[in-house]
Amino acid sequence: MIKLHNCYADTQYCLTHLVAVIFFAVGLLTRSLRVSVREGLNSSGTRTSQYAGFRFIQDEAFASDQTNQCLLDPVTFDPQGETCHFDYARQSGARLSIKNSGVDYITRSSQQDSLAIWTRGLRHSSFEESFIPESCPADTEPFPVITFGAGISSDEAYTIAHGYGVTHFCGTVNAIGTSGCWLLNRGHGVMPGSFTVVPPVGKIRIANKCSNPDLFWALHGAGGGAFGVTIDSTHPTEPEKSLTTMHSWALQGWGGPSTPNFSMFVNDKVSNNEAKKALAPALDFVRVQNGSIDVRTYKNFYQFYTDNMNGKFATPMTISGTIATTTRIVPEDHFLDVEARERMVDAIMDTQAAGLPTAFLTTMPLFYGRNNPEPNTSLHPAWYKSVWLVANSVQWTATSSIKERKQIVSMLKNATAMWKEVIPDGCTYANEADLWEDNWAYESWGDNSEKLLEVKGSVDPDNLLSCRHCVGWEESLPGYECMSGLDV
Ligand SMILES: Cc1cc2nc3c(=O)[nH]c(=O)nc-3n(C[C@H](O)[C@H](O)[C@H](O)COP(=O)(O)OP(=O)(O)OC[C@H]3O[C@@H](n4cnc5c(N)ncnc54)[C@H](O)[C@@H]3O)c2cc1C
Ligand SMILES: *[C@@H]1O[C@H](CO)[C@@H](O)[C@H](O)[C@H]1NC(C)=O
Ligand SMILES: *[C@@H]1O[C@H](CO)[C@@H](O)[C@H](O)[C@H]1NC(C)=O
Ligand SMILES: *[C@@H]1O[C@H](CO)[C@@H](O)[C@H](O)[C@H]1NC(C)=O
Ligand SMILES: *[C@@H]1O[C@H](CO)[C@@H](O)[C@H](O)[C@H]1NC(C)=O
Ligand SMILES: *[C@@H]1O[C@H](CO)[C@@H](O)[C@H](O)[C@H]1NC(C)=O
Repeated sequence: MIKLHNCYADTQYCLTHLVAVIFFAVGLLTRSLRVSVREGLNSSGTRTSQYAGFRFIQDEAFASDQTNQCLLDPVTFDPQGETCHFDYARQSGARLSIKNSGVDYITRSSQQDSLAIWTRGLRHSSFEESFIPESCPADTEPFPVITFGAGISSDEAYTIAHGYGVTHFCGTVNAIGTSGCWLLNRGHGVMPGSFTVVPPVGKIRIANKCSNPDLFWALHGAGGGAFGVTIDSTHPTEPEKSLTTMHSWALQGWGGPSTPNFSMFVNDKVSNNEAKKALAPALDFVRVQNGSIDVRTYKNFYQFYTDNMNGKFATPMTISGTIATTTRIVPEDHFLDVEARERMVDAIMDTQAAGLPTAFLTTMPLFYGRNNPEPNTSLHPAWYKSVWLVANSVQWTATSSIKERKQIVSMLKNATAMWKEVIPDGCTYANEADLWEDNWAYESWGDNSEKLLEVKGSVDPDNLLSCRHCVGWEESLPGYECMSGLDV
């Protein structure tokens, strides 16, 4: 503690928003665990707006050792400079972790005994009509953008964008950060135009296609926790417009989430009647099944979000358990071939029968990829050729035994192995990947993995930033036994 305070006194940097947290791995009594977990149990918003609250218990307590069930017990303070954590870690050998919302399946936002950087305090946002990314030529066509500080949640971002009369897309669950790992490790939504980043070496940097382009490339697709602390992100945006939604079983270029008995598809290019016509075969099928159909037009995406997603499709869930997922991104060739399609349906039915709920999201940037054959991000290239993201999940509770947890991990690993076999040319979504996948880097980023390590070496040569399945991570690093200990 005292050393850390000295560190602040010595530093001359000026960003005051970061909140740093130290947590001690003291063996707390289980009584305090129960009390803390009970507080704000059902509200991810309440829990994720304080440092100690995470979305799932695997981020708070040791999962594979029942004698080490202490909650992370943080001490918080405000540093005066944005790089002193790195200086301190370099000198002392302390491990670092970065928490944004703490809504994470992979346990990347917490680490026992680490000095934590919490980005929730970065609350700025702005709209700019004519933006040219820094260092780009003066004749670059300017475009409208919206900028969000790393502490702005999805729900706040939707509302802020609506306030400016523009559309912004981010995660479904409203507590997720808009500039954290959701943005950094994914291909959903609009391509970001620029990031402000504090890397472990050097000063605060702007990364876009003209300024620090290699860092920009790495940040978009594999940026979570590995290359520095993202302070804010800037996104191209467009005015709000009306869109049509429907609940059906169709694909046909519509986007949205599905489960085996429910689908929600959204489109901003067609009228209500055109929607009914385009999806007639799917609607007929639903009618024959005695299902229900609802086709409607919303004024804008914000209205669709408030009516359907916030608190409805993404209903608040009890927050006293662990959920782990596995995902497979499915290229379009599997939809064009009858046998491949059947193998996929069998796989869905088999995993459902094995007790793993399935969701399939028609949210891949397939049409973007068609129009931009070389998007050049660090994402696995399969993202831009795919139609579906298929997800399976498993759960356990605070009272499940270690034996039960291991059995559940085994089920998940089997589902991962099965999907890899059925969709060998696919990949996984790093944010919702199997925590126990051995080939995690290749499954997330494919051949980009090698260059990602080069960029990592250039901004973090001492490997100060590490988190599970983040670029440069190795299982042998200390601090990851918590989940690794459940591997079978
Ligand atoms: C219930 C649930 C629902 C989800 N729904 C969706 C969805 O609808 N769509 C979707 O695409 N994904 C979804 N995800 C996946 C989601 O994108 C990831 O969980 C992601 O990690 C959330 O980002 P965060 O920054 O808020 O999380 P955190 O847990 O706070 O951070 C995760 C990791 O990201 C890194 N990180 C966070 N902030 C920064 C920063 N400022 N700078 C550098 N690194 C940072 C850190 O390494 C951190 O450990 C969902 C996840 C859950 C658990
Ligand atoms: C993609 O971007 C990286 C990083 O700027 C650059 O090194 C590479 O040459 C680009 N590749 C293509 C095909 O444009
Ligand atoms: C769909 O399936 C889920 C899970 O099996 C079930 O809970 C839900 O009630 C079903 N919904 C409908 C409309 O049948
Ligand atoms: C739908 O309802 C009709 C009338 O009640 C019934 O005859 C039919 O079997 C139902 N179809 C299905 C697939 O459940
Ligand atoms: C929290 O969720 C549980 C399980 O769904 C429920 O039984 C309980 O009543 C909820 N508590 C509150 C305060 O909403
Ligand atoms: C997973 O697969 C292995 C190998 O086929 C098998 O031994 C094991 O029982 C399976 N686990 C579960 C939980 O089904």
